[in-house]
Amino acid sequence: METMQLHTIFIFIFIFFNLLHFHSVTATTIVLINKCTHPVWPGVQPTSGHPVLVRGGFKLPPRKSYTLPLSPSWSGRLWGRVGCTFNSFGRGNCATGDCGGLLFCNGTGGTPPATLAEITLTANQDFYDVSLVDGYNLPISIIPFKGKGKCTYAGCVSDLNMMCPVGLQVRSRDRRRVVACKSACLAFKAPRFCCTGKYGKPQTCKPTAYSRIFKVACPRAYSYAYDDATSVSTCTGANYLLTFCPHR
Ligand SMILES: *[C@@H]1O[C@H](CO)[C@@H](O)[C@H](O)[C@H]1NC(C)=O
Repeated sequence: METMQLHTIFIFIFIFFNLLHFHSVTATTIVLINKCTHPVWPGVQPTSGHPVLVRGGFKLPPRKSYTLPLSPSWSGRLWGRVGCTFNSFGRGNCATGDCGGLLFCNGTGGTPPATLAEITLTANQDFYDVSLVDGYNLPISIIPFKGKGKCTYAGCVSDLNMMCPVGLQVRSRDRRRVVACKSACLAFKAPRFCCTGKYGKPQTCKPTAYSRIFKVACPRAYSYAYDDATSVSTCTGANYLLTFCPHR
């Protein structure tokens, strides 16, 4: 009888430590850091079928960080909203990246142009990238830590607003500053820029003069829809550091 109890206790201890281990392997976190001199309101949009995290958005003051735990196999995108004002009901608007005028985006996406950080967790490895396919509003970088695999840096550190061609510029309300830079797809809606219609394949949708400007400024970010080879990164078992304005 006594040996039986001991046996049972050992089984429980075994299960307990396995759960601990299992937990440490699957609980991926993203630490968001705002190195900009202005506040950023991160937006978090799950891919369809995945849970909404932190109600989809929050305010991140300069020099502050926020640790966001991801659920296992979570997939979605994060972006930074800039120039926001919200009332006490969480309603208002943002100069860039606005999600229907809500502080808590609640699963809705941001209005382009906005720099996107995309991440997909899977059992074997995580996929992550920074995308300018929907345009650019502020610099973002993703750095994995404590992961196994290639785990390369992804991001767009340059201030593309400074180099944005006139036809792609989004200006502040007083017109004095460029606050975001549209993708050519967004600005001109042409299949050649959007990789749609007969350009809907990697073989037919090639870099353009516009996407090249993005690529030269930000070699480690997606400059157009089929820009895969140099843009998507993989890593296993890592946590991630997402920095707004990483150059500061
Ligand atoms: C958030 O989105 C869900 C699903 O679309 C909806 O049912 C819910 O009412 C929304 N919550 C708020 C506070 O808007």
